[in-house]
Amino acid sequence: MNIKRIGILTAGGDCPGLNAVVRAVSKNALTHGIEVVGFKNGFDGLVRNEKIQITNETVSGILTLGGTILGSSNIANPFNYTLPPFGTPQAPRDLSSVVMHNFKDNLLDALITVGGDGTLHMAQQFVELGMPIVAVPKTIDNDLSATDQTFGFDSALHIATEAIDRLHTTAQSHHRVMIVETMGRYAGWIALRSAIAGGGDVVLIPEIPYNDDVIVNYILNRKSRGKTFSIVVAAEGAKNEQGQTSVARTVAGSTDTVRLGGIANKLSDMIESKTGIESRACVLGHTQRGGTPTAFDRWLSTLYGAKALDMVLEGKFGYMVALRGFAMTEVKIADAVAQLKRVDPHGAEVKAALEVGMSFGSREIG
Ligand code: F6P
Repeated sequence: MNIKRIGILTAGGDCPGLNAVVRAVSKNALTHGIEVVGFKNGFDGLVRNEKIQITNETVSGILTLGGTILGSSNIANPFNYTLPPFGTPQAPRDLSSVVMHNFKDNLLDALITVGGDGTLHMAQQFVELGMPIVAVPKTIDNDLSATDQTFGFDSALHIATEAIDRLHTTAQSHHRVMIVETMGRYAGWIALRSAIAGGGDVVLIPEIPYNDDVIVNYILNRKSRGKTFSIVVAAEGAKNEQGQTSVARTVAGSTDTVRLGGIANKLSDMIESKTGIESRACVLGHTQRGGTPTAFDRWLSTLYGAKALDMVLEGKFGYMVALRGFAMTEVKIADAVAQLKRVDPHGAEVKAALEVGMSFGSREIG
């Protein structure tokens, strides 16, 4: 294809590896003599026409840098725009025509969107309006079914695992229950994998409803066997048997307005009152999205970015780059957003966790 000028944006929650993708896309493009325009703050940059010209100097030294040099937004949705001065939470506006106009006005031949579930939904809507888009899958939650792994997840997993390692120190010294709250939205990947890697005792994930008494009995049973501390890893989206989750706030304009959070403090109070064992909550929050990417995420982001530009050159619009095994493949964006990837309660990872003595706080599973 005759591609002269492309746009790129990073949208949704920031995560380690965004800059590595921007670098890989840009280096590949510039080598082909293609101009690269970076739009600021996700789709907001295309609404407001705020952009930078990306050169080799712009992307030099950013491979290891956390965050995104382009900025990001998980509330700037052009189809339901709530940000002033063009819209408000009370009166959201559809500004998709403005984005289409700015895309054409910038003489772009293609757009590369780097983002998770919400960004992919918006990208698909613009594909349906005729915009030539290639998508790159990002999220620490690892909840996209069309790819084996999103970049950012491995870094978040390392941060959560290191936190569990460190919390063991206080748990052991003070004979306490430490409850660690991880991110992950409606999928338990960060909680489950970090609990397995960090040797957590109880792990609570959205896919397996928990029961307070099962957790309490498990901890008391450990105590009766001489284990004077326990580590509970709770995904922010974990739910009890009644289907209740902990919601921290709602955010107008976001594709998903719900922000989960607060489960660790609730569990800490419940466990302390029912077991008599001193308990503490530790909410890892945005630390899981911060800092330099792991080697794996740098590798994955670079392969994703380089492949995305290849797909632009091949005219593979409406597609997302995906990882299958160790191979780069491509899937339709429409298929990528069809279903979330969640932990299989009857799968090998849950089975292995049970086999090493962990509890899911569940009457059904263990
Ligand atoms: O999707 C990434 C994520 O970090 C989730 O794990 C978390 O639920 C959410 O974003 C937090 O969003 P915000 O940055 O708006 O608080």
